[in-house]
Amino acid sequence: TRVAVLISGSGTNMASLIAAGQAADAPYEVVVVISNVADVAGLEKARAAGVEALTVEHKPFGKDREAHERAINALLVERDVEVIALAGYMRLLTPWLVQKWAGRMLNIHPSLLPLYPGLNTHARAIEAGDAEAGCTVHVVTEGVDEGPVLGQARVPILPGDTPDALAERVKAAEHTLYPQALAAFVTHRRAA
Ligand code: GRF
Repeated sequence: TRVAVLISGSGTNMASLIAAGQAADAPYEVVVVISNVADVAGLEKARAAGVEALTVEHKPFGKDREAHERAINALLVERDVEVIALAGYMRLLTPWLVQKWAGRMLNIHPSLLPLYPGLNTHARAIEAGDAEAGCTVHVVTEGVDEGPVLGQARVPILPGDTPDALAERVKAAEHTLYPQALAAFVTHRRAA
């Protein structure tokens, strides 16, 4: 299965998706990475792994979110992409793109959804006094951080944890969870 990864930043999840997809027996391959922000570290990581990495900035499109997405979508279609994996893509998607890729677009979110959709998940989990945190891979639907859950991983919240310390622990879990969830998803999808 031909996968595109959409990023806006460091791309550590993207890198783990690429690496797992390059294993000989992997059921998917990351064929292109697209960032809406120029010169982010993720683009370099993708190129270093031999994956085409493109920038489609949203700024030139002004308020027209859909036009920006149409530009991205055209690149995906040209490359015969079958599944999109969002990995730290920090733009809200329009219903147009979500509907176009319905059932074929995944996201990873750094909380145990339905807890803490949106931003600042780690600070909120610590603030709430939760004993554990984690991450969720889900199918993208029109509601932000909603959509059917494909997998979750849990980590403990330790005494004295800062949001950054917790983020690091959760990220390590993300890097294992996301490739597994994507592989299971595409395998299931091909069998269906
Ligand atoms: C991750 O925490 C992911 O859950 C969230 O954005 C972050 C992206 O990090 N959606 P990275 O760019 O993969 O390092």
